[in-house]
Amino acid sequence: MVFLNGKFVPIDEARVSVLDRGFIFGDGVYELVPVYSRVPFRLDEHLARLARSLAEARIRNPHSRAQWRKFIYQLLDAQPFDDQGVYFQVTRGVAQRDHAFPKNAEPTVFMMSNPLVNPPPPQVEAGAAAVSAQDNRWLRCDIKSISLIGNVLLRQLSAEADAAETILFRDGRLTEASASNVFIVARGLILSPPKSSLILPGITYDVVVELARANHMPLEFRDVTEAEVRAADEIWVTSSSKEVLAIVSLDGRKVGEGRPGPVFRRMYALYQEFKRKVMRAGKREALSA
Ligand SMILES: Cc1ncc(COP(=O)(O)O)c(C=O)c1O
Repeated sequence: MVFLNGKFVPIDEARVSVLDRGFIFGDGVYELVPVYSRVPFRLDEHLARLARSLAEARIRNPHSRAQWRKFIYQLLDAQPFDDQGVYFQVTRGVAQRDHAFPKNAEPTVFMMSNPLVNPPPPQVEAGAAAVSAQDNRWLRCDIKSISLIGNVLLRQLSAEADAAETILFRDGRLTEASASNVFIVARGLILSPPKSSLILPGITYDVVVELARANHMPLEFRDVTEAEVRAADEIWVTSSSKEVLAIVSLDGRKVGEGRPGPVFRRMYALYQEFKRKVMRAGKREALSA
């Protein structure tokens, strides 16, 4: 079952007009929430980011926070698997093609949930390869827009090199990767670019930062040069589906020792422990409700 404009329908029966501005212009925004054992992870933060993306794109938020929560729970309850990735998007709606906003269009809301695919344990253990590219996307990468052709073209570079991600540099500085945020470790210090309009404010990035702070792991936000990335002891990518993943080669050259480093291993363990805590708390809530 998927959700389309207030109704739950089988995916084969979900229909959207070819005049939907999502189809015509990529005029919409989206979210992806990971769900572990039927407990959504950081749902309120994802809903807050959706509200922000909608406001920045000047699309009316069609639902209250409570309605979003209700629909998402109904959708995930309707799936036969426990670990899910709930995808939802809102477009500016259906209208005669014209760049300017339509006067009376209703936003189109679509949600689906698929089995969650996290990196398999051998990849977590061994780390992954990445390539690099110039970040040639637009300057509002803080909006989680469905117009992803820039990210798609960049991701394809790593796919064709059999690598897991494409790490991006703009004007000689690290921004993020094609579908994840990036951290480096240099002499024990965790570094990442500060939030700005050039990167997506990742929910997983926030979790990693909270865990680092709570566990007194040294961390700094500042511009990170391309040279610093290439000389880093460790590189990590973070996202809702990748969680925290070590990058052990960049453009065919080893990162550090060429295997996941000690700071990564500590952060990965903290992340898994935190997830388990959230799942247990979520289950208790559901049982007492
Ligand atoms: C470009 C980009 N940056 C960062 C992220 C990580 O965001 P999150 O941790 O909220 O999944 C994503 C996730 O899809 C992304 O597409």
